[in-house]
Amino acid sequence: MVKRTYDDNTVIIFDTTLRDGEQSPGATLSSAEKLEIARQLSRLGVDVIEAGFPAASPDDLKAVQRIAREVGRPEGPTVAGLSRALESDIRTAWEGVKEASKPRIHTFLGTSPSHLAMLRINQEEGLERIRSGVTLAKSLCDDVEFSPMDAGRTDTEYLIRACAAAVECGATTLNIPDTVGYVMPAEWADTLEMLINETPGAGPGSGVIWSVHCHNDLGLATANTLAGLTRGVRQVEVTINGIGERAGNTSMEEVVMAIHTRKSFYNLRTNIDTTQIMKTSRMVRNYMGMPVQPNKAIVGANAFAHESGIHQDGVLKNAETFEIMMPEDVGLTQSKLVLGKLSGRHALRVRLRELGYEVDGDELVDVFRRFKELADLKKTVTDADLEALVADEAAQKPEDHFRLVDIQVVCGTMGMPTATVKMLNQDGEALVVSAVGTGPVDASYRAVDAIVDAPNELLEFNVHSVTEGIDALGEVTVRITPADSSRTFGGYGADSDIIVSSVKAYVAALNRMISSMGLGGVVPEGEVAVVGLTSS
Ligand code: KIV
Ligand code: ZN
Repeated sequence: MVKRTYDDNTVIIFDTTLRDGEQSPGATLSSAEKLEIARQLSRLGVDVIEAGFPAASPDDLKAVQRIAREVGRPEGPTVAGLSRALESDIRTAWEGVKEASKPRIHTFLGTSPSHLAMLRINQEEGLERIRSGVTLAKSLCDDVEFSPMDAGRTDTEYLIRACAAAVECGATTLNIPDTVGYVMPAEWADTLEMLINETPGAGPGSGVIWSVHCHNDLGLATANTLAGLTRGVRQVEVTINGIGERAGNTSMEEVVMAIHTRKSFYNLRTNIDTTQIMKTSRMVRNYMGMPVQPNKAIVGANAFAHESGIHQDGVLKNAETFEIMMPEDVGLTQSKLVLGKLSGRHALRVRLRELGYEVDGDELVDVFRRFKELADLKKTVTDADLEALVADEAAQKPEDHFRLVDIQVVCGTMGMPTATVKMLNQDGEALVVSAVGTGPVDASYRAVDAIVDAPNELLEFNVHSVTEGIDALGEVTVRITPADSSRTFGGYGADSDIIVSSVKAYVAALNRMISSMGLGGVVPEGEVAVVGLTSS
């Protein structure tokens, strides 16, 4: 368990993967997935988890309550709930977080000219709302954070007044957001320094924590966040893999590893156990169905790969020649669990627990069966394989509308790729359909579409090999959008057969889409049908 300790040089890591990150197109999570990610964030050592926006929906409220209860323990992180500076939002946020040992209400109000115009209020009315919102939040919860939204486009004089009003009414953390990713590192650093020094009641020594929250529209979120740290900011709001609306938020792993790797420059520390970074990244990628670009700093598949001969030669002689961090620092280990035919369920469970997964009951039975099957195919089963299997099992849920039972594909150069798919609907009825397509994945997806009545467009399809070698598990992430909506839904699947992974990922995305949009009946009557391309 991470022991969190604090001094003046500690940077508080405020993770908003489950709130701002979940606002990424296609990143919808179930409450069980949110809980699992929150547990992992706690193991990673984040200081604050922003668990959601409780007033957004009853489901959001329930998910925040569960995280507050189960993860917000005395030795665990602070659990924050977001709210607009409105009485009903603030009361609902408190309902969300109040069972945590360390609850926080995070309330915000737009302060830039365009945000005030959108709210149809002037600057003075804005200050009044900040005062009443923060006062109410403080009457419910001792730990109150205030954010002047779109601070990056708000004039500094008004920002100082807004922050002073919040502190006067009891806010203990002032978070300065660059909501639209507009600011430049040098000007942002100057603005933050001025705010810290000139906001009455919030200067150095006042006990108020200054925070930044940056978006990545110009690719500067990490640079802007780090610039703040050089001028006295001591909380950073970040997401795993940098996910978030549009171009995303500041990436947790980039900021933490910059502080860690350039200790002599920043002279700062965090409570993060950096060896948990890769695992957290993979969990978020898998559950959200949001692939990580291969060249993404720290967690991309190529982040520690050396392709050119000169680089390889240098790294082999001395890793420091071309590497500023060790792969082990971020949890990229070669640790392998060697499975013999006799390896038992208990050993698997223990290893999963060491990896941070509590898997019991039916889920353990399923993962164990998959583990044995994989061990028959591969010489060794690695930790990454196990993580993929657990993520794949977690992607199929009891409440799913449709479940893949069997698939058979015929393809090659000599005929038309044909897939036969057998699925179960929620009533346990088996539905079997064959379809012809341009390739095996196309044929399989057409067969699924002939069963599930949820018209959509495939936006993204990514295949990734979990480990090296021809016998590796293949992971697939997809994103789809319903025919008449701009929303997107992601899905994940893992199997040693990439066609099976592809169909599982697609069915997972369809199930999400159906649940959240109330779509999807069954197309045919359970009879075998053949659909697809007509031959010419
Ligand atoms: O980007 C933003 O301004 C936010 C606030 C709610 C903090 O996410
Ligand atoms: Zn944001």
